[in-house]
Amino acid sequence: MAVLVLGGAGYIGSHTVYALCEAGREVVVVDNLETGHQEAVHEKAAFYQGDISDTAFLHHVLRRESIDGVIHFAAYSIVAESMRNPLKYYENNVCKTKKMLEVLLESGVQDVVFSSTAAVYGEPNRVPISEQDPTEPTNPYGATKLAMEQMFRWVANTGNLRFVSLRYFNACGAHQDGKIGEAHPTETHLIPLLLQVANGKRDAVAVFGCDYPTQDGTCVRDYIHVADLADAHILALDYLKDGGKSDIFNLGNGVGFSVKEVIEAARRVTGHAIPVQISERREGDPARLVASSQKAKNVLGWKPRYHQLEEMVETAWRWHRRHPEGY
Ligand code: UFG
Repeated sequence: MAVLVLGGAGYIGSHTVYALCEAGREVVVVDNLETGHQEAVHEKAAFYQGDISDTAFLHHVLRRESIDGVIHFAAYSIVAESMRNPLKYYENNVCKTKKMLEVLLESGVQDVVFSSTAAVYGEPNRVPISEQDPTEPTNPYGATKLAMEQMFRWVANTGNLRFVSLRYFNACGAHQDGKIGEAHPTETHLIPLLLQVANGKRDAVAVFGCDYPTQDGTCVRDYIHVADLADAHILALDYLKDGGKSDIFNLGNGVGFSVKEVIEAARRVTGHAIPVQISERREGDPARLVASSQKAKNVLGWKPRYHQLEEMVETAWRWHRRHPEGY
């Protein structure tokens, strides 16, 4: 039996496919390659190019392969783009997931693990954030992920499906051997932008605000290594297979690092001065986002391996140095 990974050519998806293949699991990847990269797909995984909303295509894959669990990464994830074009996000993240779920139900596949995000919480009332805290997204990206969670919850309520939703905080880093990493057509994330400066691909990085109520005035985030996220997906799938009930888990380190601390870590790792310019706050950025991941540790037995920011940046740097142009 194989695991079907939807969006398995994207950043977190491709790292999870690697982890599954390295653990000796059979893997089938579906990706429309709109933002993913076929080169990122592990050679041992079967690959089908297509869209999750193409029901005939998905039925074809499910008929050909013996699938007993699904990990669903296929979604758009750029906050600023979602603010400009909310319906694009509702169509891609919610409507297409609904079509995909119909196919899974018709095919009798019952266990689904899927990507959610810290963005479902919006501006938190307290940190660390736990899964019971209020969910009030401040952007359409977070709203669509919350809508996906609710859709899964109601379908699970009919007894025909079990799901685990994983709410990632700030995913970062790359596979330790430097073969795959983070490569987006439009880069918006802090660590890859800093490494692009170190690589000579851009001149400087803007620091979005230095007047936040934090230790040094810059935003604090909970950075979690992509290999640790990959492990959590496998544990979540095994948890469902062992009869675990549908549930939602935060995935973070529980430690917050400020933008300035990330910049310093990137300077130390790369040996590059990495010039920065202080600029205006970015709309919708909460001052501090830090996860409590105690539930994932207790229930799934998740043990993140990466805790040091420098170590995480180092793995990303290994990828960026070898692939300055991405894939
Ligand atoms: N930042 C800068 N300059 C940049 C880019 C980012 O100062 O050029 C700052 C941001 O203001 C933020 C921090 O660096 O404080 C991290 O920003 P990222 O864009 O790397 O990540 P976000 O925290 O905005 O986003 C992450 C995930 C999203 C998710 C969001 C939840 O990548 O998918 O957390 O709030 F929606």
